[in-house]
Amino acid sequence: MHQRTDDGSAEFAPPQGVYVDDAPSEPSSITSDVPARRTFIAQTVAGGLGLLALELLPSSVALAQPSAPVDALRASMPVITEYHAGVTFTVNGATRTLDVDTRVTLLDALREQLKLTGTKKGCDHGQCGACTVLVNGTRINSCLTLAVMHEGDAITTIEGLGTPEKLHPMQEAFVKHDGYQCGYCTPGQVCSAVAVLDEIRAGIPSHVTTDLMSRPQLTTIEMRERMSGNICRCGAYSNIADAMAEVAGVRA
Ligand code: FES
Ligand code: FES
Repeated sequence: MHQRTDDGSAEFAPPQGVYVDDAPSEPSSITSDVPARRTFIAQTVAGGLGLLALELLPSSVALAQPSAPVDALRASMPVITEYHAGVTFTVNGATRTLDVDTRVTLLDALREQLKLTGTKKGCDHGQCGACTVLVNGTRINSCLTLAVMHEGDAITTIEGLGTPEKLHPMQEAFVKHDGYQCGYCTPGQVCSAVAVLDEIRAGIPSHVTTDLMSRPQLTTIEMRERMSGNICRCGAYSNIADAMAEVAGVRA
């Protein structure tokens, strides 16, 4: 939009409705057909925002409108408010029936509901072995299994292996060989050690068993490998190995 001035030069006149910055930096009169820079920017920005708004429009409309299939699916789903279930197993020879939240681990059921706090929670992620218990004679990390999964199982915790008056041979050996310092890992170590000897006697191979066609031997390397899932922050490993070797009847 240009108009002729009295001296014959061209003067830019903004189209109606277009904002023109009235800051004093722009000359009021120019001699070419190029529009004022600020006006050009104002028009460009206004146009750009308009396009952006147009692009956003479909998604905002879609967000504002409920999705009929999703709503129908939600309406058809049952509302679950109860997560409890009953479970019965034996713990250290006694039958126990519990009403548990189905998300509760065996470790928490033993410690929180049955008050068997000998089993320890170290990492709660299956990485330290402090929570090791025996289920039907096999060692497991009780933090990695749900209590409701053990209907009818026979569970043995450290409290079921021995008593202060009558220790299990593995407990006696731990005491004799100083197989602990702070003792936090010890219940898991003892349960694991008992199961390890049973695994080797049952002929179950390990990562270090070289000949899979013959029975694994009760060697220190077999015992150490199989105990590698039980972490001792006090570093009592060599004494634990000595205790296990004594119970196994082999030289450490
Ligand atoms: S507490 Fe279960 S493995 Fe660490
Ligand atoms: S005795 Fe302390 S962590 Fe093993």
